[in-house]
Amino acid sequence: MSAKVICITNQKGGVGKTTTAVNLAYYLAKDKFKTLLIDFDPQGNATSGLGIEKNDAALTGRTMTDVILGAIRLEEIILPTKYKNFSIAPTTPDLANAEVEMANMQKKFVRLRDAVRQVSESYDYIIIDSPPSLSLLTVNGMIASNYLLIPVQTEFYALEGVAQLLESMKLVMKQANPSLKLLGVLATMYDKRTSLSAQVYTEIKKYFKTLTFKTTIPRNVRVAEAPSHGVPVGAYDKFSKGAKAYKEFTKEVERRTK
Ligand SMILES: Nc1ncnc2c1ncn2[C@@H]1O[C@H](COP(=O)(O)OP(=O)(O)O)[C@@H](O)[C@H]1O
Ligand SMILES: [Mg+2]
Repeated sequence: MSAKVICITNQKGGVGKTTTAVNLAYYLAKDKFKTLLIDFDPQGNATSGLGIEKNDAALTGRTMTDVILGAIRLEEIILPTKYKNFSIAPTTPDLANAEVEMANMQKKFVRLRDAVRQVSESYDYIIIDSPPSLSLLTVNGMIASNYLLIPVQTEFYALEGVAQLLESMKLVMKQANPSLKLLGVLATMYDKRTSLSAQVYTEIKKYFKTLTFKTTIPRNVRVAEAPSHGVPVGAYDKFSKGAKAYKEFTKEVERRTK
């Protein structure tokens, strides 16, 4: 069986992509699924959020940059995390330069897909964290995946840009990856003290219907604190509202990808 590959994407920054990628991967692994998290954002927040120093010399020559440029195989850069069943393919800021180089390379759209295929048999789930843009990297992420998962922050302008994202998805389906599916839309940073979050969640449901995840992720300070300790929120404070929500959300993902 090959892995189910999920690309977490939204060209807006700060909507909870990386947080969702790290915590979904953590809880999938906790549920005994062999899980690989690919950090595919040059900001490397998933890498540092798991306690791997982005500037660590040990990473030299062994990151997604090197994989995507064809210098090394994906399996050779994969690192274990502190958690059973949970591995990461780290990245560093030079992935941004690799993106520029890639633009002139052959098969520039399928470089990540081809790398993912090398390791697909070894995992149950592969989660891809993407940059806040509809760039070549993001398109590589979409082409490499079976599913797209879109986190949407429950704030004003939440759905701004989502139509464009769905257009990109359609294009990818037409040109390169016809079986790509929208796994769902996740409402993040939900603040139940304001009516705005509820309004935005209603709007999301109106637009995406059953594709909207039932679980919403609350705005929770423990979620924001965890990355500075280099751990997922489930390991930082498993009783926090944020951890419980990500655990429940993970069950929904498991059911939808059965
Ligand atoms: N549920 C949450 N509650 C509080 N802070 C959050 C929550 N989700 C994300 N954050 C914080 O918001 C910021 C943006 O989240 P992040 O996951 O990095 O977004 P993206 O990857 O889309 O840019 C980060 O500082 C993160 O720690
Ligand atoms: Mg991010």
